[in-house]
Amino acid sequence: MIPGMPGDSLVYLNGEFTRADQAKISVLDRGFIFGDGIYEVVPVYRGKAFRMAEHLDRLERSLAAIRIAAPMPRAELIAIIERLVAASSSPTCMVYLQITRGVYKRDHAFPAEAIAPTVFAMVTPMVPPTEKQREEGLGLVSIPDERWLHCEIKSVSLLGNVLARQQAVDAGVDEVAQFRDGFLTEGSSSNVWVVRDGKLLAPPKNHLILEGIRYGLMAELAQAAGVAFESRPIARAEVESADEIMITSATKEVLPVTRLDGKPVGDGRPGPVYRKLRAGYDARIAAL
Ligand code: PDD
Repeated sequence: MIPGMPGDSLVYLNGEFTRADQAKISVLDRGFIFGDGIYEVVPVYRGKAFRMAEHLDRLERSLAAIRIAAPMPRAELIAIIERLVAASSSPTCMVYLQITRGVYKRDHAFPAEAIAPTVFAMVTPMVPPTEKQREEGLGLVSIPDERWLHCEIKSVSLLGNVLARQQAVDAGVDEVAQFRDGFLTEGSSSNVWVVRDGKLLAPPKNHLILEGIRYGLMAELAQAAGVAFESRPIARAEVESADEIMITSATKEVLPVTRLDGKPVGDGRPGPVYRKLRAGYDARIAAL
């Protein structure tokens, strides 16, 4: 048994569908040894993947960034995902995809000969944000961003993110807001948004953040709702005096942040811009 996982969950590993507790990889897999791989998390509602094409585009960008050739055509990957989703006990779930450079003698340099990448996929039940989270909002703690300088790659080397998230847990809050050189970057596993004077702000899309699939979506939702949007560096003081703060991710969707470092954000309640974007997000899910 794998603690926390239903034993009969179906997973895909290197060409085979098998039970999660039966799937095994080599101890010399470069994902295990070096964190030499990339991943994706795709949310699924009522059996339908949300923004699958955008997630697979990003998967291909991550693979190219670390110089792993696509292990199979996109249609094959989609077929694997569909089979796992169809077998899932829960129609609202998340697909986790991971591709590593494969198995080879331990050496930091890429293997000298062609090796097959390790391809893994699983589906786990997803609990969308609760009414309490939507209505009361989340708490964040600000911390220095101590991660590497290629945060745009969705790499499985997540130690910096793991240590960041634990700081939120230790502080008794939900997520962190990371700052590098005095400017907002992102959460440990989410993008962070700021509202000032009715305008939605996000840090620029560069190597300091992961461009969430919800980044483009929020820009679309803002436009549809008549909310001005700007992508630009956001100074710490602007976050601390924001009217509203939000986070987005595949699993958190869009949620309001009502406490930062123990102080209320704005009036301490989810704000009007959040409510507009939330309504737009809900409508997109309903229309799937
Ligand atoms: N995390 N930034 C980081 C560092 C992330 O890990 C994530 C997502 C995001 C938001 O991206 P998206 O909107 O595509 O989910 C931003 C996923 C959910 C995870 O690691 O589980």
